[in-house]
Amino acid sequence: MRTLVFDTPAEASQKAFELVRESLENGSTTFGLATGSTPEKLYELIVASDLDFSQASSINLDEYYGLTKQDSQSYAYFMKKHLISHKPFKNVYIPDGEAQDIDAELARYDKIIEENPIDLQILGIGNNGHIGFNEPPADFNGRTQFIDLDQSTIEANARLFDSIDEVPTKALTMGIKSIMDSKKIILMAFGEEKARAVQKLIEGPVDPMVPASVLQNHPDVVVLLDKASAQFLA
Ligand code: PGA
Repeated sequence: MRTLVFDTPAEASQKAFELVRESLENGSTTFGLATGSTPEKLYELIVASDLDFSQASSINLDEYYGLTKQDSQSYAYFMKKHLISHKPFKNVYIPDGEAQDIDAELARYDKIIEENPIDLQILGIGNNGHIGFNEPPADFNGRTQFIDLDQSTIEANARLFDSIDEVPTKALTMGIKSIMDSKKIILMAFGEEKARAVQKLIEGPVDPMVPASVLQNHPDVVVLLDKASAQFLA
């Protein structure tokens, strides 16, 4: 893993943007995308740019289960608001959080990923070390999963809801194996609340209790940090 520490999240996001641009210019056609506060600035930079994704596909990492796509808390809504409605992609794939037949939905998503190998995957990291919604202990061989969210994730995400009772307790997520199959990965983490997870990601053993630590086994990962998230690194 290559780790780069910047003074501010804005500078780290600018670096992420440059890596995305480079990847697109080098012929990447499939981009694995993340939601959450972390990639918002990157998406802002993409929207403001002249980069053309009209021949590219996006494959999202995860989606809450039980929200409609129109719900302002759904990740489908997030992607539309922050990226897709401003910067059109040829294909946009997001797990269906309204699926009635879960097994069919997991199989559908696995097929999409298999047919569209991910060139560049964007990741955040949870305070508990999750990537996507692969909560600890993570299945390092897992494909798309239907999971119970960790209490720590529900608490962390409650900031975005009116009350913690409104945070969904289940989600669909791309599995660790699919994330690891991506050709290149950019993980961003900002703020002191991520500092312990970042330390374990980079300096800890590869451990299913820290799902992101598996990235140590990937040949092409760039970790972009701000000073606050990097504060415990040796
Ligand atoms: P955040 O979420 O970007 O909103 O901090 C990251 C994550 O939980 O993976």
